[in-house]
Amino acid sequence: MIKQGTQSWNPGTYDTQLGFVSKLGKGILDWLDPQPGEHILDLGCGTGDLAVEIAGTGSKVTGMDQSEAMIVSARSKYPDITFIVGDGEQFSFEAPFDAIFSNAALHWMKNARGVIESVRDSLKSGGRFVAEFGGKGNVDGFVRAFYEVMPRYGIEPAERNPWYFPSIGEYTSLLEQYGFEVRIAEHFDRPTPLPEGDTGVMHWLDGFGDAFFKGLEDAARQSAKQEVYEAAKQKLPTASGVYLADYRRIRISAVKL
Ligand code: BEZ
Repeated sequence: MIKQGTQSWNPGTYDTQLGFVSKLGKGILDWLDPQPGEHILDLGCGTGDLAVEIAGTGSKVTGMDQSEAMIVSARSKYPDITFIVGDGEQFSFEAPFDAIFSNAALHWMKNARGVIESVRDSLKSGGRFVAEFGGKGNVDGFVRAFYEVMPRYGIEPAERNPWYFPSIGEYTSLLEQYGFEVRIAEHFDRPTPLPEGDTGVMHWLDGFGDAFFKGLEDAARQSAKQEVYEAAKQKLPTASGVYLADYRRIRISAVKL
């Protein structure tokens, strides 16, 4: 995860309670198809679980994340990999990469143009940009719950919403504008079981909902979170009694021309 902005990251709970984020990201590694000796940037690497998988194929990986806490955790878990703190909306490297990879991070970066421009300038010609992130309609049950509840606490949700969930048309057009050829693009539903029943819904809010609650006193914060939790449970799909996060993903594979 990168571009923490208003979001605080807790590497411990990220790994234990929200570990499905990295596990589900493994599918996009097939699209990356890393080759031995390639230099690859993992943009928004979180605690490094996918960076280490990429490095396992013999490529040289740099993991970058805006959260210092995540980078500290990644370095201690995987000391042989290079991890750096950096801003995904504005970055540059002296030596360009063969490929830039990103899982579950780009939706935290609202300045998509800044991201795409930085990615382009950090890739070799012919280099690959392979990414998975939230697409239009992603986590709509949670988003609607925030929009319903937060005005009651004097918070305008649209001003707090930290996420960028573009349509596939919007994102692939942007890539083309910035000099990429889009080779594959997909927008698909991925309902994701939240572990531990109702607690999983609260863990999700604890892990990802910070921006909406910032600035509230403790009591108001607890009460707002409880209301969002109840509202979200009304809106989220379920399967066999388990709440599902209504994830909708975009996957893209593009080449710098
Ligand atoms: C996602 O992985 O789609 C996501 C995670 C946290 C907040 C919003 C979206």
